[in-house]
Formats: sequence, C-alpha cells, structure tokens
Amino acid sequence: MLLKNKIALVTGSTQNIGLAIARAFAREGAKVVVHSRHEADARKVAQEINGDFCIADVSDATQVAAMFEHIKKTHGRLDILVNNVAHSTKGGILDITLEEWNRILAINLTGYFLCIQHAGRMMQAQGSGSIINISAGSGERSSPGGAAYSISKGAINSLTKQAAADLAPTVRVNGLISGLVGTPIGFKDMGNRKPEYDMIPLRRIGQPDDVAEAAVFLASDKASYITNSILPVDGGRLNSMGSGSAR
Ligand SMILES: NC(=O)c1ccc[n+]([C@@H]2O[C@H](COP(=O)([O-])OP(=O)(O)OC[C@H]3O[C@@H](n4cnc5c(N)ncnc54)[C@H](OP(=O)(O)O)[C@@H]3O)[C@@H](O)[C@H]2O)c1
Repeated sequence: MLLKNKIALVTGSTQNIGLAIARAFAREGAKVVVHSRHEADARKVAQEINGDFCIADVSDATQVAAMFEHIKKTHGRLDILVNNVAHSTKGGILDITLEEWNRILAINLTGYFLCIQHAGRMMQAQGSGSIINISAGSGERSSPGGAAYSISKGAINSLTKQAAADLAPTVRVNGLISGLVGTPIGFKDMGNRKPEYDMIPLRRIGQPDDVAEAAVFLASDKASYITNSILPVDGGRLNSMGSGSAR
C-alpha cells in the first residue's frame, strides 16, 4: 500500500474526480478526510471508506480554519492535501459579471491558497507533507467563453509553483492538469465538444480514476524527488497540435 497510515484531506470529495481520489487513497491505506459543503454526502462517503469528514465552504476563511482545526484536533497531523474543488461558469471576458468573477476566484483560487496555508503550516511543523492542486488545460491555454474558470486555473498553476518554492524542502507541492473527464464538468456541451474529443491522442475522454491514480503516485513516497511539477493527465491533449480549448 502506497499511502499506509497517511492522513489525507481531499477537498470536494463526495463526487466525480474528488471521490475517485478519496477512494483510491483509502485503498492505498490512507485515512481520508472527506470534504464537502453537504454533511449527509460527506458522512456517507466517509463511512464507505472508513474515513473522517469535514464540512466547509472553501471561499469562507473562517470555515476553512475550522476544518483544519478539526483535523489538527482529531488526527494530530496532515500528510496529504488535495485541492480539488472547482466552480465553473460560462462567459467570456466581456460577459462575466464582477460578482461571478469574484465568486470563481474566491472558490478556485483563494480557497486553494487558504488550504495550502493551513496545510503547509501543519506540514512544516511535522517535517513532511505533499500537496496536490487539481488544475485544467484551459489554465495553460485558454477556453473561449470560460474566462473566469480558465484564469483561475492558470493562477492555480502559478500558485503551485510558488508554493513548491516556498514550502521546500519540507513539503512537496505539485499540480495535476485534468483533461476532459467524464463528469458533469467534462460532459458539459458534449454535443458541441465531440470534435475536441477526436483530437485527444489517446482517443478517449478520461475517467475520474485516471486522475486518481496519478494523484496516488504524486502523494506517495514514490514521488519523493518530485516537486514543482504540473502533470497533465489528459490523454496527451494539452501538448498536441491543434488541441484547442481545454476545460
Ligand atoms: N471533469 C473534467 O473534465 C475536468 C477537466 C479539467 C479539470 N477538472 C478539475 O478537476 C477537479 C474536479 O472536477 P469534477 O469534474 O470532479 O468537479 P465536480 O464534480 O463539479 O466537483 C467539484 C467539487 O467542488 C466542490 N465545491 C464547489 N464549490 C465549493 C465551495 N465553495 N466550497 C467547497 N466545495 C466546493 C463541490 O462540493 P460539494 O458540492 O459537495 O460541496 C464538488 O464536489 C476540479 O478542480 C476541476 O476544475 C475537471
């Protein structure tokens, strides 16, 4: 087992990619703290994988602080943080309202930053740790009509690099760029996006488990010499000719 006895927090882990990561971590021996804004959902997943759970809106600094206080009190340490939550909305630069812009950045960027601050301090104090930020191809390129989301994902990639520099050598910080994965985010507008699927070199959209298995590796001691990397798990799409937009 690659994560035996590790304490891991996976944000947004009651569905889709986050849930797959939580299940894969539990399979590898970690005690997973499941996170959601919805208590019943989080409790259910925690029961399934014999983990713990926390409820917090990551755009609320007080709720995030309380979540880490709970982890400190209950588990005494945190070995792995996966920042996975995301909020997405349509709208190009000229369409997006200030309210929606602020909301996306509060969840997708400030939420990741706050979790890194809390986790990073715990990990520095205990002498080790691994942080993984889930990002998207649109953060490296762009996505017509998805301005705030794409920009937030680009900023997450920058956050990953800065945190990796600031938390070294004690804590490893890496990013995972998810490709199109078969979740509601991935399947949105599927009819219109079929040509994009045809441009994926591995000729299929991804599954949550594809991202989860990469997260297991990056979180584990097998990746002990890897920090400040951003790994695309996308069937080769990001780095291919004509890969187009990537939500
Ligand atoms: N699916 C794809 O094709 C794709 C492609 C590229 C990147 N990604 C990235 O992969 C990650 C997971 O994607 P997914 O498709 O699995 O997403 P998802 O099913 O929409 O799940 C996102 C999670 O974020 C949580 N969340 C949203 N706003 C929150 C808030 N304010 N506070 C706390 N939690 C909040 C939700 O939790 P609750 O509702 O339970 O509170 C939900 O579980 C995201 O970072 C996404 O950007 C996905």
